Amino acid sequence: MKRKIILTGASGGLGSALMAKLSQHHDVLGLCHANPAPGLKELDLREPAAIQKLAKEFQPEIILHTVGLTDVDRCDRDLEAALDINTRSTLHARLAAEAVGARIIHISTNDVFSGEQGLYREQDIPLPVNFYSQTKYMAEQMLYGYQKSLILRFTILSWYASGKTTFAAWLVKSLRAGKPVSLYGDQYNSPLYVETLAEWIEALFDANGLYHLGSERWSRWQTGMAIAQAFNLDTSLIQKTSAVLAHTPAPRPLDVSLDCSKLKADWGLTTTALAEVKRLADAIPDHL
Ligand SMILES: NC(=O)c1ccc[n+]([C@@H]2O[C@H](COP(=O)([O-])OP(=O)(O)OC[C@H]3O[C@@H](n4cnc5c(N)ncnc54)[C@H](OP(=O)(O)O)[C@@H]3O)[C@@H](O)[C@H]2O)c1
Repeated sequence: MKRKIILTGASGGLGSALMAKLSQHHDVLGLCHANPAPGLKELDLREPAAIQKLAKEFQPEIILHTVGLTDVDRCDRDLEAALDINTRSTLHARLAAEAVGARIIHISTNDVFSGEQGLYREQDIPLPVNFYSQTKYMAEQMLYGYQKSLILRFTILSWYASGKTTFAAWLVKSLRAGKPVSLYGDQYNSPLYVETLAEWIEALFDANGLYHLGSERWSRWQTGMAIAQAFNLDTSLIQKTSAVLAHTPAPRPLDVSLDCSKLKADWGLTTTALAEVKRLADAIPDHL
């Protein structure tokens, strides 16, 4: 069924993949802010009036909210910006959705958890370890009481990202250049290829509540080794290291892998980490 969708953050890494996928079958109005692109409408989500006016004009059935300040270290330095872009923008998107009776699908993150346990279920209590995660967790709470809302947590595996180098692209390019790389063997998530994520989001248009989306628990080293093998690269250049010894300005959680059994039980959606890596490798032309 064709839906009318406002997609916030359509100029971003995830948003541009969603724009490409969803506009094939749906009427999607994509929004951007500082990085305009053809076909996107510029709108600042830090203030509520513009998105409310747009929602009243466009009358979306769904607001798909992907906006975020994703630079984790910057969020720790610039608390106001993190709060504005991650949290307040979500309140503004929710108020706009509510004003026209639209559903809101909010893009959150597995980073809301402390990372001490791993294989987190939806009922586990988040405990953010940095301000990025804190503002993302507060953003989830901005949907409190609105029944027509869906919150999704995951880790993205992708090649392209707006203006940023992704983990996969960095790794493949380094190994092709014969450069040794170090990958954490003790930092875990549940990688999901961005195209699978886009398909699953479409499948969840009518879902409510909170879902964890992902494959299985893999360390960064495991994901890197699988990517190297899928691209026929020299895995002996990959050294396994520990994230415990790493120093980053903002702390990072160690194990934010997700238990995705609720998604499988309710919607029949499931995958493996290896299948996700293979999908990524199959989609990338040899010259890139
Ligand atoms: N990347 C991951 O691995 C990952 C994992 C889990 C969850 N997430 C979540 O997924 C979402 C997208 O992540 P991403 O990596 O695609 O981020 P991204 O590439 O940095 O994109 C962020 C988007 O937010 C928009 N934006 C920023 N400030 C805005 C403002 N004031 N008003 C309106 N739009 C604004 C940007 O627009 P302009 O560029 O035009 O300014 C851009 O479209 C985020 O919510 C993130 O927390 C990401």
